[in-house]
Amino acid sequence: MVEVRPLGTKIGAEVGGVDLGALGDAEFARIYDAFLEHIVLVFPDQELGMEGFLDHGRRYGPLRPHIVRKSRHPQFPELMMLDSKIEDTKVGVQAKPAANLVKRGAVWHTDTSYDYVTAKATQLYSQLIPSRGGDTLFANAYAVYDALPQRLKQRIEGRKAAYKYGGRLKREVQLLEEEDRIRPPAVHPLVRIHPETGRKAVYFNPGQVMEIAGLDAAEGDALIDELKGYMESPDGDYRHKWRVGDLVIWDNRCTIHAATGDYPPSERRSLWRATMMERGWESADAAARAALR
Ligand code: SIN
Repeated sequence: MVEVRPLGTKIGAEVGGVDLGALGDAEFARIYDAFLEHIVLVFPDQELGMEGFLDHGRRYGPLRPHIVRKSRHPQFPELMMLDSKIEDTKVGVQAKPAANLVKRGAVWHTDTSYDYVTAKATQLYSQLIPSRGGDTLFANAYAVYDALPQRLKQRIEGRKAAYKYGGRLKREVQLLEEEDRIRPPAVHPLVRIHPETGRKAVYFNPGQVMEIAGLDAAEGDALIDELKGYMESPDGDYRHKWRVGDLVIWDNRCTIHAATGDYPPSERRSLWRATMMERGWESADAAARAALR
């Protein structure tokens, strides 16, 4: 029986009593309601192979391979390897890792804001964890919106921000292929209405933002700093301490997250990751690209 146990006051629930490799439709419907309510779901003790992991993601929506093609698994391109020692990985991904892969995700962000159509959800499944550190922090972007002063709510309503992979610091852009590196930024509203709950959330990615559309550099930077102050917190609303076999899924439309990256460099952290999209995302993506031409 599906047991949902809230983990924090603003975000997160642990779901017990389920085998994600053999979920019935009624169980999934209960879990999906919990996903919309709690935003981050933790499923302990799962035993999934790569195909089972990807099939689980497809229940939430079509999968989209990660922009960093080098991090795609050679047999399963929709599976991204987040592994601090990729050359040693048990699944046999070759090639030496860039040193900074270890710290990947270690800034507050929402996934794929650099894409013209952004991710619905992301799932991570832990394979190996370090003896300490390496947690993932999550914050609730509905709660961020609700807590903004009225003045700031009015300032960001209808305003958009532009994003590129790597952001202003060009973090990890050397991992991209040329065509992905040079493409125009993606532009998204700072306030979005969640398509399923109808609630407003701040959509802002401090790690990837380039500029605020329609503001000069000084005004845009001031707004970026102010929004960062509301979205980034040292502990977030929920801190996930990984155990081997945890599968964690989150709703990218109303949350931001950060890897703490604070584990001993000699130790290994290995997770599988997949990104899920809204159904029909490909036509929205094609339309956005056509509008850029
Ligand atoms: C991510 O940002 O997708 C990964 C977070 C983590 O490695 O904890």
